[in-house]
Amino acid sequence: MKVPSMRLDDKVVIMTGGGRGIGKAMAEGMAQVGATMIIADISLEMAAQTCKEINDGGGKAIPIQVDVTSEAEVIKMVDEVVAGYGRIDVLVNSAGVGSRMASTELPMEEWNRIIGVNLTGSFLVARTVARVMMQQKAGKIINVSSIMGAIALPMIAAYVASKGGVVQMTKALAVEFVEHGITVNAIAPSYVNTEMIATMKADAPRFADTMRRTPMCRLAETEELAGPIIFLASEASNFMTGHILYVDGGFTAW
Ligand SMILES: NC(=O)c1ccc[n+]([C@@H]2O[C@H](COP(=O)([O-])OP(=O)(O)OC[C@H]3O[C@@H](n4cnc5c(N)ncnc54)[C@H](O)[C@@H]3O)[C@@H](O)[C@H]2O)c1
Repeated sequence: MKVPSMRLDDKVVIMTGGGRGIGKAMAEGMAQVGATMIIADISLEMAAQTCKEINDGGGKAIPIQVDVTSEAEVIKMVDEVVAGYGRIDVLVNSAGVGSRMASTELPMEEWNRIIGVNLTGSFLVARTVARVMMQQKAGKIINVSSIMGAIALPMIAAYVASKGGVVQMTKALAVEFVEHGITVNAIAPSYVNTEMIATMKADAPRFADTMRRTPMCRLAETEELAGPIIFLASEASNFMTGHILYVDGGFTAW
């Protein structure tokens, strides 16, 4: 028996939200095992910085500016990648936003912004990339949900709804695209040490509550998402589709 490889040599990978945080660390990890990374972020400056670090380390990466909520920009990005590389092997939808407010006070613009980026944006990029993958009869789409796709905490209803939506969208696209050779999975992290959770970290009682809920009693570091994403992007996970991979220090088992 030949053990399937977790290398991503010559794979063309689009990483949305790759400008910083989890997306950046996953991109660095994927580049280290051979992937050519397209770092797609609303901030071209941050995307370019990620690419510089990957390229300086001997990897391959190019930046593209894209707002995942704009259909015109997403189509343009996908066209550019196909023109430059001829194909797209893997898409990781890591662009995401969140905020914390009582549901009774939450401006509808903020609800729409969070659902728009996390859920609608992930769908838009996934279905646009899927048109290319269908022609290839192969591809892997990986969405970034959260433990908040399965459980809930107060004051983050829009975020919880968006990530729950990502879970169900992942399953829906998995069963729809399977006949085209495309797999669709998601990773669902607990709290990861990024800018997104800076206010939670600075709030001592909330931070203590989060630690109490996490059996491993700590935040994840961004590089701890690299292994799971490489696994889902590689041939090692070929029989998995519609799967939600929790990377949560035991949070959802508590
Ligand atoms: N940090 C956590 O604790 C945590 C836990 C579970 C899931 N997640 C999810 O992981 C993903 C990454 O989170 P993070 O902590 O790295 O956040 P982050 O804020 O550090 O990074 C998010 C990235 O997405 C980009 N982005 C935002 N809106 C965009 C848009 N409209 N178009 C393109 N790019 C856009 C930002 O510029 C940024 O580079 C998100 O989907 C988030 O919901 C985070």
